[in-house]
Amino acid sequence: MSVDTRVPRPQSRVVDLDQESAAAVDVAVVPRRRAHGGRLRVALAGFGTVGRSVAHLLQEASREVELVTILNREVDRKRVDWIDGEVRWTDSIDEALDDSVDLFIELIGGRAPAGSWIRRALERGISVVTANKQIIAHDGPALLDLAAAHPCHLRFEAAVAGGVPVIRAIESGLAGDRLTRVAGILNGTCNYILTKMEREGSAFADALREAQALGFAEATSSQDIDGLDAQAKLAILAMVALGIQAPPEQIATRSIAAVDGVDFRYARRLGCTIRQIAWAERNGDRTLRAGVGPTLVPLDSPLAAVNGSENLVTIHGRFGGETTFGGRGAGGDPTAVAVLADVLAIARGTAPLARTHAEAATAVTSAVATPFYVRFTVVDRPGIVAALASVFAKHQINIDALLQEPGFPENQRPFIVSLDAAPSDAVHAALDEIAAFDFHIVPMLAMPVLARESAAGSAA
Ligand code: HSE
Repeated sequence: MSVDTRVPRPQSRVVDLDQESAAAVDVAVVPRRRAHGGRLRVALAGFGTVGRSVAHLLQEASREVELVTILNREVDRKRVDWIDGEVRWTDSIDEALDDSVDLFIELIGGRAPAGSWIRRALERGISVVTANKQIIAHDGPALLDLAAAHPCHLRFEAAVAGGVPVIRAIESGLAGDRLTRVAGILNGTCNYILTKMEREGSAFADALREAQALGFAEATSSQDIDGLDAQAKLAILAMVALGIQAPPEQIATRSIAAVDGVDFRYARRLGCTIRQIAWAERNGDRTLRAGVGPTLVPLDSPLAAVNGSENLVTIHGRFGGETTFGGRGAGGDPTAVAVLADVLAIARGTAPLARTHAEAATAVTSAVATPFYVRFTVVDRPGIVAALASVFAKHQINIDALLQEPGFPENQRPFIVSLDAAPSDAVHAALDEIAAFDFHIVPMLAMPVLARESAAGSAA
């Protein structure tokens, strides 16, 4: 008897038609997986960095799954000799989703045509595993409904934090808790860039080029450095962990592109370093508080220890407190491991994802009260600090420290102000006023500072 990989309808029993007469039992009958010697037959769309790693691992897992089709554009250019000769190479989605296939792995990225391909597969009762965070962040609930209706699986472990099995952990290990906050480092490219700048003094552009060469980065670098990749991952985590759903574009982002080597020098003077932090929390109502951007984190926090392309996710539960997951967040092999985990979960008859009935957020905000770091780069002259101080005072914002290292030229002099905890709205209003002064030679850079006691807590 083969293992059933379809999703049982609620309250139904799965019936093996070879064993029992359907007429004899009063149950909803779930179609069995097509019989192919008990192995799940897989079509793989996308033969890039992750796709190639997935193909390797599928061949390793050949007792449970069989790679039957590889779909890619210009397929003749992609063909390699280490793929089993029986595998069909095609550039046609119709061929990839033919009747012989049980499971479709979508790794082409982007919303079109991947979204319509996923829909097509689910409508045909073909389970889908995807790493596509944009599609899941935007359309996850609708696609999960589609999967339940047909019935088949939709799984997306690889869409969040690469090889870190955080969705599985939320689904199973933390299932008994009421989760209230998720926070951490969700983009390996940004973390790679920031740790290179911190530890080796690399220039931003050089570190980005290296991340791209190593296969961590998205096709468009803005997705990583402007926070859009982490924004989509955070929206998925909010849906799965916090049960609240919001269009990802409503989550505020700040770019790491403005972070300069000098910021690491000043951050260190404050006992901190800089990481791209994504955070989301759900309060009593249906407001989602969330944001993504470069943030000062204490040097002795777990976030500061996250190196290279690694990710770290901290989940706070009402009963269980904080649980932290870390590991490789980007790159072909780690992401492929997450894809294979989903494939094998389906092959082994795991239940479909459960925590997916998220409520729509009534509001999304990044407003929070937190300390801030603000770097000014000015053409120096007397009275600049007095001018800044008067604006901060007007907005009831207290200055904690003012640091200016010697040795910079008068016509481009960076110094920083650290602010005691203040409402982010007030800080932004003050900075809008300060931006109008004529002494700036480079735009100001403001970053929240994580308090020492909440090393993975909220930050705007
Ligand atoms: N570009 C992403 C990152 C990997 O750097 O984390 C895929 O999500």
